[in-house]
Amino acid sequence: MRKKMWPSSLLLVSSTLLLLLPGTSAELVKDGSTCIVTPISNTSKAAVAAPVVVGRRDDNPLAVPPAPGSPGALGRFPRPEPGSSSAGHRRRNSKNLDTRAQPDDTPQILDAFKQCGQDGTIILREGTYHIRQVMDLTNLRNVSVEIHGTLIWSADNLSYWRQASPAVTYAGRQTAVRLGGRDIAVRGFGKALFDGNGQAWIDLAAGASNFQGRPISLTVWYGTNVLIDGITWHMSQFWHTFVAHSQNVTMTNLNMSTYSSNSQSSQNTDGTNTWNSKDITISNWTVTCGDDCIGVKGNSSNVHVSNVVCHESGAMTIGSVGSNSAQPDYVENIVFDNITAIHSSNAAWIKTYPGNGYVRNVTFRNIQFEDVNQPIYVTSCIYSYNNCDSSRLKISDITWSNITGTSRYNVAAGIHCSAAAPCEGFHFDNIDIRPKDGGGAAKVLCSNIKNQADMGIDCTGPCPGSQPQQLSGNV
Ligand SMILES: *[C@@H]1O[C@H](CO)[C@@H](O)[C@H](O)[C@H]1NC(C)=O
Ligand SMILES: *[C@@H]1O[C@H](CO)[C@@H](O)[C@H](O)[C@H]1NC(C)=O
Ligand SMILES: *[C@@H]1O[C@H](CO)[C@@H](O)[C@H](O)[C@H]1NC(C)=O
Ligand SMILES: *[C@@H]1O[C@H](CO)[C@@H](O)[C@H](O)[C@H]1NC(C)=O
Ligand SMILES: *[C@@H]1O[C@H](CO)[C@@H](O)[C@H](O)[C@H]1NC(C)=O
Ligand SMILES: *[C@@H]1O[C@H](CO)[C@@H](O)[C@H](O)[C@H]1NC(C)=O
Ligand SMILES: *[C@@H]1O[C@H](CO)[C@@H](O)[C@H](O)[C@H]1NC(C)=O
Ligand SMILES: *[C@@H]1O[C@H](CO)[C@@H](O)[C@H](O)[C@H]1NC(C)=O
Ligand SMILES: *[C@@H]1O[C@H](CO)[C@@H](O)[C@H](O)[C@H]1NC(C)=O
Ligand SMILES: *[C@@H]1O[C@H](CO)[C@@H](O)[C@H](O)[C@H]1NC(C)=O
Repeated sequence: MRKKMWPSSLLLVSSTLLLLLPGTSAELVKDGSTCIVTPISNTSKAAVAAPVVVGRRDDNPLAVPPAPGSPGALGRFPRPEPGSSSAGHRRRNSKNLDTRAQPDDTPQILDAFKQCGQDGTIILREGTYHIRQVMDLTNLRNVSVEIHGTLIWSADNLSYWRQASPAVTYAGRQTAVRLGGRDIAVRGFGKALFDGNGQAWIDLAAGASNFQGRPISLTVWYGTNVLIDGITWHMSQFWHTFVAHSQNVTMTNLNMSTYSSNSQSSQNTDGTNTWNSKDITISNWTVTCGDDCIGVKGNSSNVHVSNVVCHESGAMTIGSVGSNSAQPDYVENIVFDNITAIHSSNAAWIKTYPGNGYVRNVTFRNIQFEDVNQPIYVTSCIYSYNNCDSSRLKISDITWSNITGTSRYNVAAGIHCSAAAPCEGFHFDNIDIRPKDGGGAAKVLCSNIKNQADMGIDCTGPCPGSQPQQLSGNV
């Protein structure tokens, strides 16, 4: 991660300010258009506060991710259809419920955004911020947010988050932080750490897919010209990030790791998903997540993803798209370049429901991987594996170039396009995928590709509509 120092002029301003102001212990100090926030636990107020119990922390930040194949190592694939969970309302007795006084740093952070969120700078100084309330920051304009500390989202009141986290429309999902407006830069200098206390959410969801109310950590929501840079996530509540209804969003130098420390799987902890958004740049990410690393969902265009390393994930995916056949989904002009996937379900793939719309002009380039279940996968009927040949969602002009690595079994590619809207303009170039245990060439299974004869790779057989997203052995 890149490390940057504060601009020295700023340091000067803030230290002078802190010397001069009587309230040196104040959590929020405003100087012109700059708001400087100090964690409560660093101020004199903390000394008089009730005994502080720092939330539940059985997610040891020093713990290493589980070994491949061990319980909790990889999200449960294939996952049930989103929204099909019947466990949405299930609640367990929270064994970690602790009603003793805890500091809440949210009010002064919200206040800083109120005072300096337009034509201003917000600085969160070093230390630990306890976040006990949603932050719905959607009216920002020309703001620079500089985060030098750790933000920990509370885990002793999960029902609060489930009920209060604002909605982001997509599939009924919610989010703990919504960031919207124009000309917004959020920089963490490699020092900012977002800790979502994710193990509590993994335990509460207890294997239920898309558990209702489990909040996305950070959503860019109706944002234009947004930069998110240099932030580390550890144990996100749900998806780490989401980009919705936004344009010109750059997300660079991000480090995400969320995995279960027990036998529950950490599913739905995607690195990011884009939706109804365009002109997005994603670069220099390292992700361990147990679900899709980068997901490009409906109505996304001009998305450029590069220099990303993903562990225990679904790696690079278009989809799911087309879930509502009354609402078309359009995806176009997408590039994934220089991507590494280690021990993942898939690597360079496209998943659609039998819906409407199109996916076109997508390039997967320089993708290298190790031990990936089914590296290249295309389906027109994800999750249900029904009505695969009636989908009208057209997939065309897709290039896989320089795709190298090892497959877990003897399949390099499983591609089933819809008979009603066959794929076309597929191109393969320099594909070198070998089963990890040796044993010759891996199979390339194809159905309903119009230009199969000249696409640059030989198909070894047909691919059934029922071809699963993940195989359990050689076929
Ligand atoms: C990502 O963060 C983890 C801690 O959560 C750290 O161990 C690792 O070195 C970081 N990786 C990079 C590439 O910065
Ligand atoms: C943006 O905000 C800064 C103060 O942080 C101000 O100096 C600058 O003029 C603003 N830019 C525009 C275009 O308003
Ligand atoms: C707050 O306290 C922590 C722990 O003592 C320390 O590392 C950090 O530098 C302090 N922050 C500020 C702004 O003084
Ligand atoms: C949980 O949050 C709700 C809503 O803010 C609040 O009414 C309740 O007192 C909180 N419970 C605890 C234990 O903090
Ligand atoms: C896109 O956003 C960046 C800030 O992240 C800004 O510098 C750039 O000018 C924006 N591009 C356009 C075309 O507005
Ligand atoms: C990506 O990381 C490299 C190496 O650390 C760095 O040189 C480059 O500037 C980074 N790219 C971006 C867009 O920050
Ligand atoms: C590819 O990405 C890796 C990080 O994943 C980076 O170290 C390397 O420099 C990148 N290569 C190019 C050609 O950008
Ligand atoms: C995608 O965009 C089209 C055209 O603007 C719109 O009709 C459709 O509802 C959008 N789809 C979704 C899933 O938002
Ligand atoms: C395909 O997408 C790439 C990357 O966004 C873009 O540069 C190119 O112009 C697109 N091609 C067409 C035919 O739209
Ligand atoms: C193909 O990928 C390899 C890494 O797997 C890289 O070293 C090489 O430069 C790439 N070739 C091209 C033409 O991009």
